[in-house]
Amino acid sequence: MNRTVIITGASRGIGRAIAIRFAASGCNVIINSVNGGEKLEETAELCQKAYQKAVSPNTAVTSCSTPSVLPIQGDVSDPSFVRKLIAEAHDRFGRIDVLVNNAGISFVGLIQDTDDLIWQKIINTNLSSVHYCTREVIPHMLKEKHGHIINISSVWGNIGASCEAAYSASKGGINAYTKAAAKELAPSGISVNAIACGCIDTDMNKCFSSEDLTQLAEEIPVGRLGTPEEIAEMVYSVSNLPEYLTGQIITADGGWT
Ligand SMILES: NC(=O)c1ccc[n+]([C@@H]2O[C@H](COP(=O)([O-])OP(=O)(O)OC[C@H]3O[C@@H](n4cnc5c(N)ncnc54)[C@H](OP(=O)(O)O)[C@@H]3O)[C@@H](O)[C@H]2O)c1
Repeated sequence: MNRTVIITGASRGIGRAIAIRFAASGCNVIINSVNGGEKLEETAELCQKAYQKAVSPNTAVTSCSTPSVLPIQGDVSDPSFVRKLIAEAHDRFGRIDVLVNNAGISFVGLIQDTDDLIWQKIINTNLSSVHYCTREVIPHMLKEKHGHIINISSVWGNIGASCEAAYSASKGGINAYTKAAAKELAPSGISVNAIACGCIDTDMNKCFSSEDLTQLAEEIPVGRLGTPEEIAEMVYSVSNLPEYLTGQIITADGGWT
């Protein structure tokens, strides 16, 4: 049977790579982004292509029916949208096996320049959304006594970053939420883990100059930024690991921190 996977923030970057990875293995994927549109449709097409490529002769994916891709546009910091997102996903596929809380935004600036609106937007988009999505999928996972929730966090949630206090707080909150949720849900067969990413080559780092990024790469023992595909492979792997792995914040930063 095809697994069903929800990925928030899947129109580009890490979320898109995660969606493609799961689709390639024959999973049904529900892909979301706040703006939707062409980018999200493009992810849907890439998911279908990845699956077709994976089922071509001489490859391993043969045992499930053709997976479906369901794009749903909306803002995961809005709890009423999240209720609809999860309900629509469940109505369509009848089960939810994996939730990947990936949607996120960043803000680089001094604490004095982080006004109330910016603070609330960062916390609501990055952290409150994790709670809203987790809360809504739990009843469906409880019925199956099975499920994986994987949160995309950041090394700044572990150690904090200068000029990224709101972002660091949101990701530190995700780390604590991950550990708390793992304890609460372990008796029900649901694992909750987070991947704390280092610097990954996506639009999120477009605010930095190429000189800054080159200098940053030199500080990373692996010698380069990570790729969205590397993070996607880790998320996919965690979703296939036994439920005994739970409550973990797995740092993926090329040895940087
Ligand atoms: N890149 C890094 O170096 C890095 C490092 C550590 C952690 N991370 C984390 O990895 C995750 C993905 O980041 P990325 O680098 O792939 O960023 P990205 O390329 O900027 O993509 C962000 C994604 O999140 C979506 N999104 C933003 N706000 C949303 C909302 N309110 N509701 C639904 N979707 C929303 C965007 O949708 P639209 O296209 O519609 O705007 C987009 O699909 C984030 O949680 C980020 O904090 C990234």
